[in-house]
Amino acid sequence: MEYTILKPSLSEGILLITISRPAALNALNTRFFLEFNELLNEHDGNKEVKVVVITGEGKAFVAGADIAEMVNMNPEEGSRFSRTGQLLFDRIEKLPFPVIAAVNGFALGGGCELAMACDFRIAGKNAKFGQPEVNLGLIPGYGGTQRLTQLIGKGKSMELQMTAQIIDANEAYRLGLVNHVTTSDSLLEKTKEILQTIQTKAPIAIGKIIECINVAVLSDSAYTNGKTGYEKEIESFGECFDTADMKEGTSAFLEKRKPNFKGE
Ligand code: CAA
Repeated sequence: MEYTILKPSLSEGILLITISRPAALNALNTRFFLEFNELLNEHDGNKEVKVVVITGEGKAFVAGADIAEMVNMNPEEGSRFSRTGQLLFDRIEKLPFPVIAAVNGFALGGGCELAMACDFRIAGKNAKFGQPEVNLGLIPGYGGTQRLTQLIGKGKSMELQMTAQIIDANEAYRLGLVNHVTTSDSLLEKTKEILQTIQTKAPIAIGKIIECINVAVLSDSAYTNGKTGYEKEIESFGECFDTADMKEGTSAFLEKRKPNFKGE
């Protein structure tokens, strides 16, 4: 597929996905969902991809779902539009390797929801967050009612979504919506720095961390397989003993050397 909205680049294990539709502040349209799903299909099982970074071009990360596409939809089309977004964002959340949002500007509506589907978020100083859907007579449709509540708690989530308030990066940090705030110029550098640390750790263990933490917050029975997070942790902990990385990590500790993980 020829990508017209996404600009993917793969280097040193980092798949950097830049959303590039700056004239519409990177608003998420049908084409975006096609391209993103296709990109994930293309890299499915690609061992070269160790981590993913999602960012936006221009002054927005993503200013929301495309309002022009939604304006004339009927309820059935609206639900389908919501489901398409949720399916992709669920897919992103469940990827077995780290996915980080590097939020460079407006992350509103579907943009905030995309950032929240990532494992964690790093914000440039000029980033702005919010779920302003009630201004449009709408509610978040890409998981925002759920993920914002998980991330910042019920009361704050209620207030932000009821008031449509837009908050800056420092407030997002204070609320726990983002993990770090950096200067805009150093956003990707800071993101890569954190990812480089993660890349020195055992990849299979990282994948299991993602799964266990997701089980703590997801009620999706196909994913949790009827297990509680604690049960999932016991199972995953045990599975680590079947990996070469666990033997390497524990031996390296006892031999007082740095481990060399192979993801096996
Ligand atoms: N959908 C479609 N187009 C959008 C858009 C969106 N979500 N956000 C911005 N644009 C377009 C504008 O229409 C404008 O296009 P034209 O130049 O052709 O007029 C262009 O991007 C630039 O936008 P502005 O001129 O408005 O830029 P600004 O700097 O003055 O304002 C902004 C920036 C505050 C982000 C403002 O654009 C804005 O409020 N955008 C909408 C934010 C929003 O409501 N997001 C939620 C969408 S609904 C949703 O996401 C539902 C869901 O959960 C699934």
